[in-house]
Amino acid sequence: MGYPRIRMRRLRRKVQIREMVRETVLAPDDFILPLFVRPGDGVKREIASMPGVYQLSVDRLAEECVAACRDGVRAVILFGIPEHKDALGTEAYDDNGIIPKSIRALKSETPDLIIITDVCMCEYTDHGHCGAIKNGDVDNDATLELLAKESLAHARAGADMVAPSDMMDGRVGHIRKSLDNEGFENIPIMSYAAKFASGFYGPFRDAAESLPQFGDRKSYQMDPANRREAMREISLDIDEGADIVMVKPAMPCLDIIHEARNTFDIPIAAYQVSGEYSMIHAAAQNGWLDLETIMMESLTSIKRAGADMILTYFARTAARLLT
Ligand code: PBG
Repeated sequence: MGYPRIRMRRLRRKVQIREMVRETVLAPDDFILPLFVRPGDGVKREIASMPGVYQLSVDRLAEECVAACRDGVRAVILFGIPEHKDALGTEAYDDNGIIPKSIRALKSETPDLIIITDVCMCEYTDHGHCGAIKNGDVDNDATLELLAKESLAHARAGADMVAPSDMMDGRVGHIRKSLDNEGFENIPIMSYAAKFASGFYGPFRDAAESLPQFGDRKSYQMDPANRREAMREISLDIDEGADIVMVKPAMPCLDIIHEARNTFDIPIAAYQVSGEYSMIHAAAQNGWLDLETIMMESLTSIKRAGADMILTYFARTAARLLT
């Protein structure tokens, strides 16, 4: 049976009916806001390629989080820029490093805000790679110990969840074991499970000051051409004890998100990364596309593909629109 008895447009004629049949609905608690924290006092430095995104000192971070809570944001993910970088990224696992300090400040200023921490070495190493270097490449097994120490420093400071983004093999299991041994068996791990070596991370590397000083990340992050391999990565992380798995970037990977949703019964996060954000802003600034419309359309498409939660620099703006 088809036209003329079936007319798809009948359900599209009025906004109320369109809303009744809407399949994907965004809510403020879908979003996780990424924030960049740096040393200093009173610092709020805008990232040139990311309008409305700042490097913040701890005091300004607290202000930003109070405002984000007011907008309806429930969770943030923190990235730290250390005072000093060195070959082994020692500030990453210092209990008085930038992230532990930030967590302690936020726990007193915004106790209900969920604090997730990015666990990686690239912001803390002077070479900008995501781990310890041996013979010109990141040494997988030596890096596991650094990541475990970093996760523990975050957990001791009061992080609600840790999110390893380094793409070393075995890191979820290693971090899980270390957290459990120290009494943090209740801290969940959100693993960047299918993280592609993507050109869309460009602006982030300015924001986090984490540009690799030699080579690229292709020996640890995934080839964007590989879908089956992404499913293996996700399934390995689940076996190692990941509580939430992430696909990153988001819009270039809607097929990956969708297949992961259909394959695994675990919460799925998607990261709408810096380049996705910058592209949307650049088009809007040129008057080529409408910012609000494409922001909400991009977020809806990521959720429709199957993401349960979205890490997005639009979190505050989108949450405000939805409340
Ligand atoms: C750290 C990390 C990166 C991002 C999140 N965690 C950068 C990278 O892998 O180079 C990218 C986020 C974004 O682009 O918004 N490893």
